[in-house]
Amino acid sequence: MTTLFDPLKAGDLELANRIVMAPLTRNRSPNAIPPDIAVTYYAQRATAGLLITEATAISHQGQGYSDVPGLYGTEQLDAWKRVTDAVHEAGGKIAVQLWHVGRISHVDLQPEGGAPVAPSAIPAKAKTVLIKNGKAEYVDTSPPRALDASELPGIVHTFAAAARNAVETAGFNGVEIHGANGYLLDQFLKSGSNRRTDDYGGSIENRARLLLEVTRAVAEAAGPGRTGIRLSPVTPANDAQDDDPQPLFDYVVRELGPLGLAYVHVIEGATGGPREIKDRPFDYEALRAAYRAAGGKGAWMVNNGYDRPLAEQALQEGDDLVAFGRPFISNPDLVRRLREGAELNQWDKDTFYGGGAEGYIDYPALA
Ligand SMILES: Cc1cc2nc3c(=O)[nH]c(=O)nc-3n(C[C@H](O)[C@H](O)[C@H](O)COP(=O)(O)O)c2cc1C
Repeated sequence: MTTLFDPLKAGDLELANRIVMAPLTRNRSPNAIPPDIAVTYYAQRATAGLLITEATAISHQGQGYSDVPGLYGTEQLDAWKRVTDAVHEAGGKIAVQLWHVGRISHVDLQPEGGAPVAPSAIPAKAKTVLIKNGKAEYVDTSPPRALDASELPGIVHTFAAAARNAVETAGFNGVEIHGANGYLLDQFLKSGSNRRTDDYGGSIENRARLLLEVTRAVAEAAGPGRTGIRLSPVTPANDAQDDDPQPLFDYVVRELGPLGLAYVHVIEGATGGPREIKDRPFDYEALRAAYRAAGGKGAWMVNNGYDRPLAEQALQEGDDLVAFGRPFISNPDLVRRLREGAELNQWDKDTFYGGGAEGYIDYPALA
């Protein structure tokens, strides 16, 4: 019987166990540069089979929150190199989540105070975080402008360049394309945010085009066996909404199947909320089956609200990896605690976003 503590080869990634740290934005990177305490934070959690970093902007235009890190400048890459070195020193593996927020941004965060970009000029009913005087403030996202088709090859190229820098310069073991939670690629996928009438809107094939172009380009840049992708078929996060998600996501994973990716990472239900949403039913087993039927050999990673019993059940049912989010914020030694059945530290929501060492690197490990 497979357990959470068994190793797994996911593409080129040799993972010591099946427990993954989910990507967690922490808003502690002024000027988009990870701080020294990020080195400690990630190294403390290096016993995870794989660490996935907080979402990291591929460009200034891809930024949507105060003090989140980037991957587009030398100082950012150098700071990330210190993080990856420390994780490797501690015996861990780490992938970076590649992020373009699209319309989930604010003019204060955009180059020259411009409008955020999106598939269509439809504002999101969503908030972003601006840090003012060291305190996180929730503000409405700014109305976006629709991207011109001529700008899309540049976005694909920027994702690929960030992926190349991530593995070649910053020392990451892999990259995860952020295709989830209502950000740019998810905005293109879903009918609620995409009303385009060109090759990137309308049919399922057209709405999935940008995500698949990005995935192929990133896989070429980083190596397919070092590339993963995160999807969230039904989450309402950031005003994400699709009229008919099952055929959309079945199509997406069928197209991902032949690409030789390291893993596909699926958020089941509402991110950080209910695993099943009454008016948004979804068959995740059918999704995994569609991926396998299309030749997909990558690891199947699941997330959202897992504890040990639920995670073990997932492995018995054919999933390969389980990502834990909030439990990893408050338990640097989560792997050990799960193995020993030890009690978990409770997380403090007030220190999720912004601030310094408190609520970041001061959660205790077992003695
Ligand atoms: C503080 C916080 C920050 C998050 N940041 C990200 C992020 O940067 N990228 C992402 O894909 N998901 C992000 N999420 C969602 C988590 O990765 C995860 O999907 C969610 O917490 C559910 O998993 P859990 O029940 O194990 O916590 C974040 C969640 C929290 C609580």
